[in-house]
Amino acid sequence: MDQLVQSFLPDPSQRQGTAPLGRLRFLTCGSVDDGKSTLIGRLLYDTRLILDDQLATLERESRRHGTTGADMDLALLVDGLEAERQQGITIDVAYRFMTTPRRSFMVADTPGHEQYTRNMATGASNADLAVMLVDARKGILTQTRRHAFIAGLMGIRHVVLAVNKIDLVEFSQERFDAIAAEFRACTEGLDFSTLQAIPISARHGDNVITPSINTPWYNGPSLLSYLENIVVEQETLARPFRMPVQWVNRPDLDFRGYSGTVASGRVQPGDHVVVQPSGAAAEIRKIVTMDGTLPSAGAGDSVTLVLDREIDASRGDVLAAADTPVRVADALSARLIWLHDTPLMAGREYLVKLGTRSVPGTVSRIRHRIDVNTREAEHAESLGLNDLGSVELHLQAPIAFEPYADSRELGGFILIDRLTNATVGVGMIEAELHRATSITWQELDVDRVARGRLNQQRPAVLWFTGLSGAGKSTIANLVERRLHALGRHTYVLDGDNLRHGLNRDLGFSEADRAENVRRASEVAALFADAGLIVIASLISPYRAERARARARLPEGEFIEVFVDASVDECRRRDPKGLYQKADAGLLRGFTGVDAPYEAPEAPELHLRTADASPEELAEHVVAELRGRGIFG
Ligand code: ADX
Repeated sequence: MDQLVQSFLPDPSQRQGTAPLGRLRFLTCGSVDDGKSTLIGRLLYDTRLILDDQLATLERESRRHGTTGADMDLALLVDGLEAERQQGITIDVAYRFMTTPRRSFMVADTPGHEQYTRNMATGASNADLAVMLVDARKGILTQTRRHAFIAGLMGIRHVVLAVNKIDLVEFSQERFDAIAAEFRACTEGLDFSTLQAIPISARHGDNVITPSINTPWYNGPSLLSYLENIVVEQETLARPFRMPVQWVNRPDLDFRGYSGTVASGRVQPGDHVVVQPSGAAAEIRKIVTMDGTLPSAGAGDSVTLVLDREIDASRGDVLAAADTPVRVADALSARLIWLHDTPLMAGREYLVKLGTRSVPGTVSRIRHRIDVNTREAEHAESLGLNDLGSVELHLQAPIAFEPYADSRELGGFILIDRLTNATVGVGMIEAELHRATSITWQELDVDRVARGRLNQQRPAVLWFTGLSGAGKSTIANLVERRLHALGRHTYVLDGDNLRHGLNRDLGFSEADRAENVRRASEVAALFADAGLIVIASLISPYRAERARARARLPEGEFIEVFVDASVDECRRRDPKGLYQKADAGLLRGFTGVDAPYEAPEAPELHLRTADASPEELAEHVVAELRGRGIFG
């Protein structure tokens, strides 16, 4: 936490509910020069939340920098903290805590101008109110609309439009009214229950803490007084009980408790609960905290729940009131905000993290993108940085959830790139697409091993990847001929051939290729399950999809074969004349020319086609299969 302010609040987490109105969690949003830092500095400074020595430094620094004449530059206060952070002093810049005699506040401050949407989305997910800053000279910008839209989408119901730098437009009421009217018009339908516009000057303090004499035409409250008095619903307590399990607390054999933070509702000993997704039922026996047992616990409390019987529950499960359980599904529709330079691709696998649960999943379909200005849906093949869309999500396992509109805790999720671990998107669940419980995996008695034994071989997938013209199909063909001659049961899945039938609806966009490879890997896995030695031969240019094809199979059954030929060599061979077309600009998005190929980093087999004939390479592959005990 912020060390500067910490001294005023020994433990901010303990303060919720002590002030009459409860702590207000708000975030500030604005464009780079709208005065966000100055405003936060002003709030901290004028509410006397700055240590004296820090003030002296500020005065000294302001004189030195001299950007604001004789006044102190309050932005330095906040930016100074940022600098501290950069020097490696551990402070949490994401949240600042401040308190006045009336109320305590948690301010989600989102420093840094890049990745602004990312920060904003993170801050918005647990804020009650948003202070939207606009520069009175510039008025409502696209970015203002975007922030308002995201705030609305993420469940913020209270908005303050702070029309800043009002001094720079001669405290003009006309200007203020026009901006406020435009903002109201462009946020219509966003479900804000309160919207207050306030003319301010963060730099000079007008209407920040106290009403300003410079705006006699404005009869409303100052920003601080508004924030001190606004009533925001504490809905979470009124809703049914839910607690995502953070960890299973088992210090010894006699004690087992489920620890976590209550997301909503209340719980007390004797209450009946279910563990979801499994559905196991139990009764609460005890509520344990560091300070002893509690008679009851409510939303926001961190507790360990002891149940009356042994049940199977683990991290990521949700404990819910037995009479009003949460929903469980593995297919969902959701709104998504994309946060990464690399676009979202339908079909690619990401890690979906919801509460304490992480499950692999794919965005199976992008329904549409939403234009932030018009809020209209438009057709989209992918979502780029800061794009917003409506998508369908398929998860590898069912999860317990609630629609975001009912619960931010159990309806909000993030998407993580499995290879880089980067957070690439935030999402809000709308509804389930179908009940996971209606489809189960059918176990069969004759399995892959039994089928393979009949064939006197073990199943395997040889996955040939490489540029068009590298020689994948040629070598695949030779390998199959040799295996066939040896009495082996095989099948070649060739990219071009699949595109004649199963994948005839797919083109060569990133998303289509991902889907192409996904389907091929599913078929390869089925054929391996049938006991065959499968030879898949596709460009499969992306590591992520190849990694996924690998993950689809048992350890050791996926053999990645990199058919390596340089682009120049492939261009020289050009068996289908496609490089010539691509070079002439007649074929767009051709792999190796103007579309990427991500070479394997650690393939099981690396075939350098420049160094050996296709026959020799095919022989090498067959020897490798033998070496791995795929057949005798
Ligand atoms: S993949 O990228 O989705 O794995 P796949 O192996 O199925 O590709 O198909 C590649 C074949 O499609 C190439 O061998 C080539 O004949 C043909 N093709 C047509 N357009 C393209 C393109 N833009 N990029 C790559 N291959 C293309």
